[in-house]
Amino acid sequence: MTSLHDRTALITGGSKGIGRGIAAAMAAAGARVVVNYGHDRRAAEETVAAIGDRAVAVQGDVGDAADVRRMFDTAGPVDILVNNAAVFSFQPIGDVTEKEFRRQYDTNVLGPFLTIQEYLRQAPERGGSIINVTTAGVDTNNPGSALYTSTKAALTSLTRIAAQEFGPKGIRVNAIAPGATETEGAAALGVLDSGAMAARSVFGRAGTPADIGPVAVFLASEDARWITGEVVHASGGFR
Ligand SMILES: NC(=O)c1ccc[n+]([C@@H]2O[C@H](COP(=O)([O-])OP(=O)(O)OC[C@H]3O[C@@H](n4cnc5c(N)ncnc54)[C@H](OP(=O)(O)O)[C@@H]3O)[C@@H](O)[C@H]2O)c1
Repeated sequence: MTSLHDRTALITGGSKGIGRGIAAAMAAAGARVVVNYGHDRRAAEETVAAIGDRAVAVQGDVGDAADVRRMFDTAGPVDILVNNAAVFSFQPIGDVTEKEFRRQYDTNVLGPFLTIQEYLRQAPERGGSIINVTTAGVDTNNPGSALYTSTKAALTSLTRIAAQEFGPKGIRVNAIAPGATETEGAAALGVLDSGAMAARSVFGRAGTPADIGPVAVFLASEDARWITGEVVHASGGFR
């Protein structure tokens, strides 16, 4: 069985949705998990309690450099960094406000840059793994998704270039691209309500965080030692 024994994983936005699924799967594979959250402390505490004594919660805004440094100081040495935290909303290009643009780019793009820079400062000698959560939407060009999807396209480029830069240090960098997935964030926006998004999976249902967690475990593990710079679609065939 794939093991993350003796590894510490920091999962940004690990308190809810896909991040929680990844945190739970990594803990089940033996990792110590650091569950980052933005503002909802209660959800983070519930997630940590459900995972058990392999998990701790750490508050911090990924778009704030001082918060990111404090997060890593609290976490101790991190082997596996999962950039999962993101915010999203959908609107035509003409309706994108400067405020919403900055909110999404600060969290979804600046955030991973800051966490990756901090990870590098303390990078493990034995190498490590960075996993960025993007979206299958990068390849589907859905009208109304330009702002959000462009943040994930930026994260996709960051993934591929970081893989080239960090390879010599033994650090692999990959991305997971989920399709429509049942999470708190998706429910709040009602994006799954019509059933249209779920129908785009060849299995006729939306994904769940439990579908994504094992993919992250694999990418973080020694079994994936020859895989870097890749985007793995975990989307039930949604393309
Ligand atoms: N759900 C989908 O259908 C879907 C599809 C494709 C890709 N994705 C991607 O999957 C990832 C997770 O999405 P999700 O649907 O699981 O989201 P979610 O249910 O809305 O959960 C978001 C998580 O991120 C945290 N967060 C938000 N802003 C933060 C910040 N500035 N600093 C630190 N943490 C922050 C939240 O914590 P607080 O609530 O405490 O702030 C929460 O833990 C995202 O990257 C998203 O783009 C989702």
